Amino acid sequence: MNVHASALAEAHLPDQQTSVFAREAIGDLSQRPKRLSPKYFYDATGSELFEAITRLPEYYPTRTELSILRDRGSDIAALIPEGAALIEFGAGATTKVRLLLENCAISAYVPVDISGDFLQDQANALRRDFPGLAVFPVAADFTAPFALPEVITLAGMPKVGFFPGSTLGNFEPHEACAFLRSAREILGKDSQMIIGVDLEKDERVLYDAYNDAAGVTARFNLNVLVRINRELGGNFDLSAFTHRAIYNRERHRIEMHLISKKSQSVRLLGTNFAFRAGESIHTESSYKYSIDRFAALARGSGWTPRASWTDKAGMFSVHALVASD
Ligand code: AVJ
Repeated sequence: MNVHASALAEAHLPDQQTSVFAREAIGDLSQRPKRLSPKYFYDATGSELFEAITRLPEYYPTRTELSILRDRGSDIAALIPEGAALIEFGAGATTKVRLLLENCAISAYVPVDISGDFLQDQANALRRDFPGLAVFPVAADFTAPFALPEVITLAGMPKVGFFPGSTLGNFEPHEACAFLRSAREILGKDSQMIIGVDLEKDERVLYDAYNDAAGVTARFNLNVLVRINRELGGNFDLSAFTHRAIYNRERHRIEMHLISKKSQSVRLLGTNFAFRAGESIHTESSYKYSIDRFAALARGSGWTPRASWTDKAGMFSVHALVASD
């Protein structure tokens, strides 16, 4: 057993997901600048904090995307073929997919998410509310290639990918391209994609959305350290780190950081990490696109833009893409 493995055994969580988290956290905190992946925000507490974020007055993306999906429901339905299978990448709350299921002639739903338990509850709720719908949950990390369930029901159905919430914004541009290419491979020839993308806008509005007055985003950001302490036996002093979110105009992205308030050392699975006063851990990037920059990204990633919709104020966008030949 190496140092990390024995420390993991001591932390009483020697399962596979924990060791992936451990390896990634140690690798990322060893980088200059230090970083942590935003996918580790979402344990039970983190998911609740994110749900709270979506209800904040400053956080416009969720409610704006919902309003687009609601107002443009019939336009979207017109593009989706009869009897389609809807494949959702990263299935969180079912609010958004319900809007599509209510408006469109969808016969099967394949939610793909890393969190298996949540997925089953969600699948059961949808089976109850949409009795004609075949539901095939897939527990997988959708950022890596995965296979659709090999069931006869799905085989002949037109495939429509669904990737709402501007989750694409968490990817670096080259990762966004790789994701779209991989989705194109998974969904196959003649498939389509419905994707929600946050738009560039007034910097003050962006800033406020990630620096809410109630401090919920700060707690969400700090929760990744809470997780490291609990799941990986870390000793981060939460009061010695502070939330910072800034808009990086050149790179069209919000950056979230955790800033060390003082010079300090943190220990995690047998490794020490030294922090200077003011040193940052970069915990998330949230890229913002223009309609044209997103269309160019899609074209360069195996997709042809077919339609796009925004709210009146042009805050958020929803795009329909068709697989290029
Ligand atoms: C779920 C990635 C779309 O980037 O706006 C919210 C996550 N981070 N507040 C976003 C988030 C801070 C969110 N995404």
